[in-house]
Amino acid sequence: MNDLLNKTAESPKTNGGSKIVHAFGALADLGAEVANRSNFRDTIRTSLHLLLGSLGIMRGGVARYSRFEGELSLAAVRGLGDEFPLAISLTREDERAFLECGTRALEVADARDLTLLSLSGWILEAKDIELIVPLVVHDELLGMLFIGEKASGERYTTHDKDVICAMGRHIGVAISQRNLLTELERKADETRKLYDEMRTTYNDTVRAFAAAIDSKDKYTEGHSTRVGKYTEIIARELAWAEDEIEGASVAGYLHDVGKLTVERKIINAPYKIDAKESKELNRHPAVGYEILMPIHHPYADVPLAAKYHHERLDGRGYPDGLYDREIPYIAKIVNLADSFDAMTTDRPYKRRRSAPDVVEDLRRNSGLQFAPEITSALLRGLLRETSGDSKNRRFRKLLGRDYMETENLTPLLRKTLDEIGTTQAITLSV
Ligand SMILES: [Fe+2]
Ligand SMILES: [Fe+2]
Repeated sequence: MNDLLNKTAESPKTNGGSKIVHAFGALADLGAEVANRSNFRDTIRTSLHLLLGSLGIMRGGVARYSRFEGELSLAAVRGLGDEFPLAISLTREDERAFLECGTRALEVADARDLTLLSLSGWILEAKDIELIVPLVVHDELLGMLFIGEKASGERYTTHDKDVICAMGRHIGVAISQRNLLTELERKADETRKLYDEMRTTYNDTVRAFAAAIDSKDKYTEGHSTRVGKYTEIIARELAWAEDEIEGASVAGYLHDVGKLTVERKIINAPYKIDAKESKELNRHPAVGYEILMPIHHPYADVPLAAKYHHERLDGRGYPDGLYDREIPYIAKIVNLADSFDAMTTDRPYKRRRSAPDVVEDLRRNSGLQFAPEITSALLRGLLRETSGDSKNRRFRKLLGRDYMETENLTPLLRKTLDEIGTTQAITLSV
C-alpha cells in the first residue's frame, strides 16, 4: 500500500489557468449542490454528474460505506450498466488501507494487492474503471468513487486527480452530513419512544391512583375514573389540543386524591355528616394540592384542579370562596364533571337524578356554579350522542343505554343549549 501512497502523493501540477478556473467552477457548483440537503439521492447523483462532466469522464459511480455491514453500496451511477454490483464487500484490511490513504485517487492498475480488487477487480476492469477514490472524512471511511476512463482516452494527470479528490471531499462531506442527520433522526426517534413509554407509565400510574382513591369510597365506586373521563370529553368538546386533553383528564382522575387522608368512616357515612366531619372532608382539596404539588406533572394545572374543584363562579364554593375569573379554568371543568357524576350516580340515600332533571340543574346553575361555555360543551357532547351525530358511545358507556334514551332528551338538550348560549353574559366576574 505504501507504493500506492507514493504514487498518489505527487505535488499538483496545473496545465494552465483555464483548467484551474474550470475546476474552481465545478467545485463551486458541487459545493452549492452539497449545501442543498433537501434530497440526498439527488445531491449525490448531481454531484457525480458534475464531477464526470467537468473532466469529460465516460462513466463512474458513488458508493456509501457501511462499516456495520462491511459493504459499499452504490448511491449513484452513470454508464456502469446493470451488471455492476449494487453492493461490494469490503474487508477490514482494505478499510484500514483506505483510511491510511485518505481521500486520494488510486489507479486500479496499481492497487492489485487490495482484497477489493481481487474480489471485484473483474467488474472494474470490464467497466474500464481506472481510478478508485476512498471518501474519508474525519478519519472515517464514508464511501468510494469509481471513476471510468476519460472520453478523450487520455490518462489521468495529477491535476485531474487533484480535482477529482477535491470534489470527492465535497461528496464525502455530503455523505457525512447525511449520516449525521440519520443518526440524529434515530436518536430523536428513540427519545420519542422513551417519552411515549414514560407517558404511558405516567397515565397508568394516574389511573391506578384514581382506582386507589375510589376504593376508599364504597358508595361512589369509580367516581374519580368517571370524572377523569367526563373532564376529557369536555376538554375535547372545547377543541383543546390533544396533550391538553390528556392533561385535563389527569386533573379529573386525581381531583379527589386528598380524600386518601380523610377517615374512611366520614367518606362512607351512611348519614348526613355533622359540621366537624364536614370540615374534615372539606380539607381534601387543599390536601390534594399538597400531595400533587411536589410531583413534576407533564401538565402544570393538575394540582390547581385538585385545590379548586369545589369553587363556584358565584363565590359560594370552598376552600377559598373564589369568584369566576379567580378560579383556574381546569378547576371549573373538573367541578362540572364532578357535579355531573354526583348527580348521575346513586348515593347512599339518594337515587340518581333523571336526565331531564340533571339538564335542568345544569341550566339553572350555569353562570352561578358552572361556567356557561363549559356547561354547553358537556351538553353538546351529550347531544352529539343522543341525536346520533356521533357514533362515539362515551356517555352511553358511563351512564347506561336507558339513561341516554330518556324520552325527549334530544329536544331538551337543544333547547337548553340555546338558553345557556344566551345567558353567557351573566357570568359573574370580579
Ligand atoms: Fe372533591
Ligand atoms: Fe369528586
